[in-house]
Amino acid sequence: MDDQLAYGFRTLRDLEESASHRVLDHVWAYIQGGSGDERTLAANLAAFRRRSLKPRVLVDVTALDLSTTVLGRRVRAPFFVAPTAYQGMIHPDGEVAVARAARDAGLLGAFSTLSSRSLEEIAAASGDGVRWFQLYLQPDFTVSKSLVERAERAGYAAIVLTADVPVLGSRDRQAQGGFAIDASVPVGNGADVVPPSRAPLLQGEEFRLRSDAGATWEVLDQLSEATRLPIVVKGILTGPDARRAVDHGARGILVSNHGGRQLDGSPAALDALAEVVASVGGATEVYLDGGVRRGSDVLVALAMGARAVGLGRPVLWALAAGGGAGVAHYFSLLGVELATSMALAGRTNLAAIDASLLGPELP
Ligand code: GLV
Repeated sequence: MDDQLAYGFRTLRDLEESASHRVLDHVWAYIQGGSGDERTLAANLAAFRRRSLKPRVLVDVTALDLSTTVLGRRVRAPFFVAPTAYQGMIHPDGEVAVARAARDAGLLGAFSTLSSRSLEEIAAASGDGVRWFQLYLQPDFTVSKSLVERAERAGYAAIVLTADVPVLGSRDRQAQGGFAIDASVPVGNGADVVPPSRAPLLQGEEFRLRSDAGATWEVLDQLSEATRLPIVVKGILTGPDARRAVDHGARGILVSNHGGRQLDGSPAALDALAEVVASVGGATEVYLDGGVRRGSDVLVALAMGARAVGLGRPVLWALAAGGGAGVAHYFSLLGVELATSMALAGRTNLAAIDASLLGPELP
């Protein structure tokens, strides 16, 4: 059958456009939008466009191994499902379809506190696959603790602490499209789970935020007491913060600007990567999300020191275009393209991907 009919799209190039016709306008505004004037959203993509790769030729590339490990668990490729909220708005199977596709492809899947399905349902779909739970700190720490305990019981392999959302960024495109993240959007993890606050409130002479905005690095110590699972800190863009995370026992750092949805004007994820990698000096694994679209983007991020890269919007586009089959097709296309790029670059496995692959900036 034609791929367009079977999966809703044919190639990585027509994925976004195909998805755009299958989602309600306000949901599309939610998925696509960044914060403010979307400078950081654009920069995430532009940073990859600037990078070049210096291929080596006449290397025997008849066998290509894309596999790696993340926090000690083997995965078939160095890309993973980045956590994104409310997947049930895009497809009725939501996170369950994504978890199943990730497991079938041998990939890590990370799932949000704000999932449409419960973390237990997602775990059942993920089966023996590798899954991480992304925590949004709750105003009451006992709710955060109970989510973490549930994730541990349900076989998640790590807790991803979201560090970049004391408050949501100024989501103008969402607001223009008529979408707001608030308690009216159903979540699967229980009625006591709340989304991050949307804006500071003026009280007297000060703007005030909810108590979860008061979290400091000590929250990592609190979480470490609550769970035996390793903690990955998501939303780090500077060397000093990466060091703090390491000092507080983080086992992984996810370099991310939340898909350009938080501080508009923060650096492109890829541009922040080198500083973070240099400052942790191998003490933790470093991952990146934000702007990864093609197999060559994966190569660039790995050459700059990322262990694996997260895929946010593209997974949502694939889910919109073709449900679980669409997501599976997307993983397959990206895997084939990464293998193709490795063959063309003369690198047969991930250990061979290092800074020597990076060339001068493209004009
Ligand atoms: C939630 O994670 C969002 O960025 O909208």
